[in-house]
Amino acid sequence: MAKRVVLAYSGGLDTSVAVRWLIEKQGVEVIALAADVGQGGDWDAVKERALAAGAADAVVVDCREEFARDFCVPALKANALYEGKYPLVSALSRPVIVKHLVEAARQFGADAVAHGCTGKGNDQVRFEVSTRALAPDLEVLAPVRVWGMTREDAIEYAATHDIPITASKEKLYSIDDNLWGRAIECGEMEDPWAAPPQGVWSLTVPTQSDERELVIAFDQGVPVAVDGKELGLVEIVEEVGAVVGSYGWGRIDMVENRRVGIKSRETYECPASLALILAHADLESVTLERDLAREKQRLEIRYAELVYDGLWFSPLRNSLDAFIQESQKPVTGEVRLLLGPGRCIVNGRRSDWSLYDYGLATYDAADAFRHEDAEGFVRLWGLGLETWAARQGPGRDR
Ligand code: ARG
Repeated sequence: MAKRVVLAYSGGLDTSVAVRWLIEKQGVEVIALAADVGQGGDWDAVKERALAAGAADAVVVDCREEFARDFCVPALKANALYEGKYPLVSALSRPVIVKHLVEAARQFGADAVAHGCTGKGNDQVRFEVSTRALAPDLEVLAPVRVWGMTREDAIEYAATHDIPITASKEKLYSIDDNLWGRAIECGEMEDPWAAPPQGVWSLTVPTQSDERELVIAFDQGVPVAVDGKELGLVEIVEEVGAVVGSYGWGRIDMVENRRVGIKSRETYECPASLALILAHADLESVTLERDLAREKQRLEIRYAELVYDGLWFSPLRNSLDAFIQESQKPVTGEVRLLLGPGRCIVNGRRSDWSLYDYGLATYDAADAFRHEDAEGFVRLWGLGLETWAARQGPGRDR
């Protein structure tokens, strides 16, 4: 039985109640660890709440730079979109949180970590599988999955135990927020036919209507400047998100396949990550050789799946990252995004490493393409099919 536990603490109702519940029901000492992954919030208040709930200690770790550099950027290089749409907002933050939970467990001499996930979602999978990968000796406790309390029960529990919470009886949505975007689930949206109510959006509320451009510069696949201004990674993500979001662009409404076998209706707003992926993938279209580009696209699907499925700390991800890293050597250049109401499109791209050859592509006098080579090439290209058509083709099939 565990004696000292490091709990991934958000400051919300469930994890606040979990602090006291773990102490009371499991007889453990609780260290609360809050990870700043760019969700914003009053961290002093979060710390105080954890201590008021009974935590022996409360720490806040600023993971923003690390999260951007070691988690979001690899995902960007992989153009990682789960089921073609979702840039893995929550899936990317769980492994960085687990890394710090494990570090804190070592530092505080804890023998377990804990999370506040329910039994129906992907996040429990990510927390637990990542912990197993990094620290198989640590126990993982999942109080919310076992306590059997409804939301009302938890509020009641908080009230009778003097745990300061800000939650009200009716919680409409389950929200998860970080630098890479925002996930909004539950409420009316559990009916996949129902339109998401206007009130759910916060990063993509349209305030701009005049068209403008946003130029994003990449160095070997890493975004390094916006409109010619060199910025740190966190600032780039924040800046792109703020500008693109102000045009009301970056929303996703999808029914996705959770790892645990449930189809779930999800809404997201990811102006920064979607715009960066759009720009990055476009720059690859001129800088990556064709066969490399095609193979990479196949692997991108696998990459997104494994991150979604909680396998960040895995040999497959390491190996895919090595492939992707190698591919990014020429991905240096700029992409022009054009923004308008509800719209973000690529308007141009350039790179010193571009494989776009004007002399080959042009239809004007500068043409350097050897037209006479085409005839033999096309004949041989179609030779197999021509043979097939003569023997087994249309009108000759049995
Ligand atoms: N469905 C998304 C995912 O699995 C979002 C999860 C959001 N988490 C939350 N606690 N609301 O990555």
